[in-house]
Amino acid sequence: MAVVFGGRSSEHAISCVTAGAIMAAIDRERYEVVPIGIARDGRWVLPPSDQRLAIEDGRLPEVTGTGGVLAMPFDPDDRGLMVVGPQRVPERLGDVDVVLPLLHGPYGEDGTIQGLLELAGVRYVGAGVLASAVGMDKEFMKLVWQARGLPIGDYVVVGDRAWRHERKRKIDEIKELGLAAGRAVFVKPARAGSSMGISRVADEADLDAAVEAAREHDPKVIVEAAVEGREIECGVLQGVDDAPAEASLPAEVLVGGDHDFYDFETKYIDSASGLAIPPDLPPAAIEEVRRIAVQAFDAVDCEGLARVDFFHTSDGRWILNEINTMPGFTPASAFPQMWAATGLDYPALVDRLIQTALR
Ligand code: DAL
Ligand code: MG
Repeated sequence: MAVVFGGRSSEHAISCVTAGAIMAAIDRERYEVVPIGIARDGRWVLPPSDQRLAIEDGRLPEVTGTGGVLAMPFDPDDRGLMVVGPQRVPERLGDVDVVLPLLHGPYGEDGTIQGLLELAGVRYVGAGVLASAVGMDKEFMKLVWQARGLPIGDYVVVGDRAWRHERKRKIDEIKELGLAAGRAVFVKPARAGSSMGISRVADEADLDAAVEAAREHDPKVIVEAAVEGREIECGVLQGVDDAPAEASLPAEVLVGGDHDFYDFETKYIDSASGLAIPPDLPPAAIEEVRRIAVQAFDAVDCEGLARVDFFHTSDGRWILNEINTMPGFTPASAFPQMWAATGLDYPALVDRLIQTALR
């Protein structure tokens, strides 16, 4: 099998960490692994298989264009998208039985590599082209869920042209969303992950800078009304054989320290967040969130795996936040931890994903 990691998105380093953990858990008696790195400029390289892919002392792994892996210091101001460079696809890609596209974010989690693999007739783990593309775009995932009658929050899309030519109208819409009434909004790149480019804005004076920060990741920005409530996530797996998809026990994200939301540093650098699995919720609420998670997975035609993220409001409603079709996958990540608590440990989970793709 080929394990593909790194990539052109701002989640490059997290993809390396996911791949390092999964490669360490793959049963080498059963599977031969070909690691394939994609550098930030889009070059495909064959890194040595013994390279460390982990966050250590705040240093993030990074695939270099010449095939090595560097440990880069974490710099919160330098996480923009990289420009594409010359691409060299390794010949060995054609020899593998299955590909694990362990890429997070655009150019990997968004249907692009899935399309390449479909064209090449190679089996791969996870969602197909459409589900990956819909799951990467916070506007379209909401549109699909809304059309299926699933619960979403209020939002405004700020497209590139609208921001440049109709800024005042967009700002008025965002004020309507809550700012005018003193309620915060979250400004997000429409297509990114790991909280890259996200700001919480409580004051109109900070809106411009927040939109510009999001636009460094994606010219399309989405502004969401902040939901007062708890953050709950749920893992979903495609069913075995023809069985329906199934949801794990949920997890509650507990953000500590001086972080006001679940941002990049809280997630990966500071370890300032924890998970409660299962959360302190009545059994009926837990059953309900698991049911909605499967409906959200099916609504986008997802396959393989996904993590579905929710808010649980103080009056007991569930609101879908987003779906991640290739969720963070280190042993400390929520997705494998939720499955471990549901009875599927890390190596068994990895094996199930590979077996599902090989069928
Ligand atoms: N986008 C990150 C990797 C996640 O959803 O876990
Ligand atoms: Mg995400």
